[in-house]
Amino acid sequence: MISAFFGDRFGYSPNISGFTPGRVNLIGEHTDYNGGLVLPAAIPLGISLAVGLREDDQIRVSSALYEHIYVGRIGDKAQSHWADYVIGTIHKANNLGLLSTGADIAIQSDLPSGAGLSSSAALTVGLLKLCRDLGSHPMSELEIAKQAQTIENEFIGVPCGIMDQMAVALSPPGQALSLDTFTLDFKLIEIPGNVHMAVIHSGIYRQLSEGRYKVRKEECDIIKKRLGRQDICRMTDTEYSNLSDLPATIQNRARHCWSEHRRTKSASLALKSNDMKLFGSLMTESHQSMRDDFEITLPEIDKLTEDAVKFGAYGARMTGGGFGGCMVACVDETILDEWKSRVLKQHPNAFYVC
Ligand code: GLA
Repeated sequence: MISAFFGDRFGYSPNISGFTPGRVNLIGEHTDYNGGLVLPAAIPLGISLAVGLREDDQIRVSSALYEHIYVGRIGDKAQSHWADYVIGTIHKANNLGLLSTGADIAIQSDLPSGAGLSSSAALTVGLLKLCRDLGSHPMSELEIAKQAQTIENEFIGVPCGIMDQMAVALSPPGQALSLDTFTLDFKLIEIPGNVHMAVIHSGIYRQLSEGRYKVRKEECDIIKKRLGRQDICRMTDTEYSNLSDLPATIQNRARHCWSEHRRTKSASLALKSNDMKLFGSLMTESHQSMRDDFEITLPEIDKLTEDAVKFGAYGARMTGGGFGGCMVACVDETILDEWKSRVLKQHPNAFYVC
């Protein structure tokens, strides 16, 4: 389908095409740039891409969402345009020796953007993988994830961690990726078949580049500076009590990093042993910590997660960078349909994603 779309837009057949999933983070929020644990999982929705090689340095980008074809060049700066991710990735692929020309790129996506489901990581990781696969470069998925993160950090200017890129590059469907973002060690954990990790969009859209994410990162930098360590999620109790002269807000941010890391560790163990009651209660605690200590939730999403639990989910939490987007709830398969309709009835602006 993506190849046919490419043909319609560019008038020839692509050299390569592929699909990259989005991800939902089950628990471990804002820990990935603080040296902590995360537990994301790939979702069935994602981005399909097709690439045709060019002989010049032009980059043409066509998304199924728009009629217009965006035209740029290798070396262009970011323009605050959706095509920046593609321009930055093709530029990076040239720097890495994966490509030596420009390219035509067609994009079809069923991922809602601004939802906290990593549409941008799916785009950069997916495109880098296709560029690698066009030649015989032995670049690993781990290296692809690292390079994709540098596109976001340096080209787009979003100071994100590495969770999203690792998740979309490495986690197969039906498994969660237990990732230590400090060492990049990871293992896969099977999601038990009797539960569904339901993703519901709140109906409130947000953008990471809006700046609130950056503010949280800067607040964490204050803690890093004070403690002289980057992996503040692993601070000791004594280190935490040594922060008592810092403003209360910064102490609260520290408490979230400290507690979320520990919750994520317990949640990985609970998932492994199929203890969904415990897993769910850790998700709900994670939401409360994001609401009270990290202050990245919104009243509408707090209510959505409360109702998700009230109507029978084991636990629920907002997922992703915050200030809008989706919640994820752990729901027993046997009550899923009824649960879904009760939650959505109560929240008419929300919609079921997967
Ligand atoms: C965004 C970022 C990730 C991570 C999450 C919050 O998705 O891209 O690196 O920081 O927010 O956990």
